[in-house]
Amino acid sequence: MITTSEAFKKFKSRLELREAEQKDASRLQKEIREHIGNNFSIKNDFLTGSYGRHTKTRPLKDVDIFFVLDKEKEKKYLTDPLLVLSDFKKCLAKKYGESKVSIGRRSVGIDIALGTTEEDKVLSIDAVPAFEVSNYYQISDNVLCDWIKTDPQIHAEKATEANKAFDGEWKPMVKMIKKWNETQGKPIKPSFLIEVMAMQILYPPFSGGYVYELKSFFATAFDRIGETWNDPAGLGSPVSDQMDASKITTARQKLSEVGKFIDQAVLLEKQGNQLSLIHISEPTRPY
Ligand SMILES: Nc1ncnc2c1ncn2[C@@H]1O[C@H](COP(=O)(O)OP(=O)(O)OP(=O)(O)O)[C@@H](O)[C@H]1O
Ligand SMILES: [Mg+2]
Repeated sequence: MITTSEAFKKFKSRLELREAEQKDASRLQKEIREHIGNNFSIKNDFLTGSYGRHTKTRPLKDVDIFFVLDKEKEKKYLTDPLLVLSDFKKCLAKKYGESKVSIGRRSVGIDIALGTTEEDKVLSIDAVPAFEVSNYYQISDNVLCDWIKTDPQIHAEKATEANKAFDGEWKPMVKMIKKWNETQGKPIKPSFLIEVMAMQILYPPFSGGYVYELKSFFATAFDRIGETWNDPAGLGSPVSDQMDASKITTARQKLSEVGKFIDQAVLLEKQGNQLSLIHISEPTRPY
């Protein structure tokens, strides 16, 4: 029987990306960069999103690559944000096959089959077309049918600051909460919303205990999930814009369940039963 603290150490390390995953991601990234670069005028490209910020959970999916288009040479897209997504899709489908590429909300996703085991089966990359506009970027939004403003650099800086203030435990905790969310059928959507909420809710200093911090995160998230959560860079559309009334109700229910589970686990541990809190996130199978 392992103690709660040992269980958390194990949980934390299981969420850390493995070397092989990072190597695959790096190889595929280069391949996609080259292919896009041969078909579009790209000023710059870089890794972004949770993978770039080290808040990505494993198994590794949806690695975001920003492709900053040349404003002069690709100006036809400036007035047609949806066209750039469909042209990216066409271009990627030529290399990877129609069934492997799909248009997402702000990117084109490419699924690439890797190994044979269940968890290592597919690695997906999200190619995000972007334009640089003064001191921020604009990316196409398939739901709003418009460009939205964003600044991944500010998101990365804010995550780094939060992590530093929280004794280096902010990013591991974000990953734990994101993994809980994944196993619960993603009641909180998008998962970037968890990161945005954690910037306010995981309040420094880190208490030293994951149980206490998680309990307090879930309780506050229960109270505040219905609020409007804005882009922390103050540029894009509200990050919470997918959380309609029914999603909020489901999320509250899941947040309440996990809160009760933690209370029960704490009680059992006090009584001498060291129930592993790792079961919050992996009730049935290891990953
Ligand atoms: N509403 C928004 N306004 C501005 N920028 C946004 C907004 N939503 C997402 N972004 C930026 O786009 C990036 C990619 O979005 P995505 O939904 O893939 O989130 P993520 O943080 O990478 O999480 P995941 O682990 O689910 O991939 C985010 O990391 C963030 O920098
Ligand atoms: Mg992402």
